[in-house]
Amino acid sequence: MTQPLRIALAGLGTVGAGVIRLLDANGSLIAARAGRAIEVVAVSARNRSKDRGIDLAPYAWEDDMTALAMRPDVDVVVELVGGSDGPALTLARQALGGGKALVTANKAMIAHHGMELATLAEAHGLALKFEAAVAGGIPVIKGLGEGAAANRIERLYGILNGTCNYILTQMESTGADFGGVLKAAQDLGYAEADPTFDVEGVDAAHKLAILAALAFGTAVDFGAVDISGISRIRAADIAQADALGHVIRLVGQAEVQTVDGERRLFQRVQPVLVAKDHPLAAVDGPTNAVVAEGNFVGRLLFQGRGAGDGPTASAVVADLIDIARGNAVAPFSLPVALLEKAPAADPGNRLGRHYMRFTVADRPGVLAEITAAMRDAGVSIESMIQHGSPSDAGLDPVLVAIVSHEGPESAVAAAMRLLEGSPSLAEPPLVMPLLG
Ligand SMILES: NC(=O)c1ccc[n+]([C@@H]2O[C@H](COP(=O)([O-])OP(=O)(O)OC[C@H]3O[C@@H](n4cnc5c(N)ncnc54)[C@H](OP(=O)(O)O)[C@@H]3O)[C@@H](O)[C@H]2O)c1
Repeated sequence: MTQPLRIALAGLGTVGAGVIRLLDANGSLIAARAGRAIEVVAVSARNRSKDRGIDLAPYAWEDDMTALAMRPDVDVVVELVGGSDGPALTLARQALGGGKALVTANKAMIAHHGMELATLAEAHGLALKFEAAVAGGIPVIKGLGEGAAANRIERLYGILNGTCNYILTQMESTGADFGGVLKAAQDLGYAEADPTFDVEGVDAAHKLAILAALAFGTAVDFGAVDISGISRIRAADIAQADALGHVIRLVGQAEVQTVDGERRLFQRVQPVLVAKDHPLAAVDGPTNAVVAEGNFVGRLLFQGRGAGDGPTASAVVADLIDIARGNAVAPFSLPVALLEKAPAADPGNRLGRHYMRFTVADRPGVLAEITAAMRDAGVSIESMIQHGSPSDAGLDPVLVAIVSHEGPESAVAAAMRLLEGSPSLAEPPLVMPLLG
């Protein structure tokens, strides 16, 4: 009889408790598929007496989670605590340094320290796996790193944060503004008490940096991701996008641009107007989706639940099954030494149509100032709409939405620079590209 794969779980929150429930519910199926049983040996969390709705009696308990990495009866440490640094990173280093494979759902840690951890794993001949770190239950790491491994992939994009997608689709269906929908999402448990990482795009950027490395064979470069979130989107933007035949989604986009024979990496997370007939427009609620374009396979679309105990545990246990089977794949699908350090691309030559929203003082000459800036920067205007009723005193700000014809992003950026600091603008303009 083959020895079971013995695991230690650090973190017994949403995902950790989900992993225990999944291993309990599907244990014999998993053992049959893995070729051996997957057995939880020891666990750790902050509070031993917390009721987690699971029976922890069969497992050894460690107050200090780093002790899990020292146990001689453990083959794999599963880190489900979170945080880019701190105890999670200490545990990860100790596990891989001490001869244990590591499975983690921690996108922040992999985005910031993935290269270091992959190097450590490689040096010790150990598995480092993080399927659950990107798009929850969707097997996109395996899909890109193994299923599509024969392809050159030069472009990928997707909806990588369920909280933002839920908020945007609720704004769409209710007509409510961002603040009210965020509050409701928090009450329903779809948004954290501190939603900053989600709504400001940082969580999606962590995932994008990981996917880009895996798809393009480049080193993870989270610092080079250009990030903006959804907190400035208003109900009026959603209504305007709708009138244009679009919906607004927070989209992470990465692509390789070859300039003078050198490969450069473009990575950005930002709200985008997605045409209603584009596959990403149909991705609503807390769902995630990733599109990758391979040179032989064509366009791949991965879609499913990007968070929650069940989907995330499903991805964690899939990694454990791989380790139990002895499926040894480099964490980023290539040995670390072959991961290219591509410099960041200049986004200025990207072509597209852009939506620009201005909040302006309601007084004569403001529209002329905006259109003059567009003309001087070489931005050709396709449509312009003014929202809001002018007040008698001309004091209430008015929204002006402009859509440009296709042109380089550098021209739009130049127009924004010309308008910077203008007393006519009540706040900085909001710029979103159109997709599809
Ligand atoms: N939730 C999701 O849907 C989801 C999806 C994809 C990826 N992830 C990732 O999965 C990881 C875990 O997320 P989660 O939602 O399960 O978090 P969570 O519900 O907040 O659980 C975190 C767990 O870590 C424990 N913990 C925190 N600090 C600790 C410390 N210093 N020592 C020992 N244990 C400590 C907590 O202990 P107590 O319970 O005793 O407080 C808790 O059990 C994160 O990296 C997250 O980004 C989550």
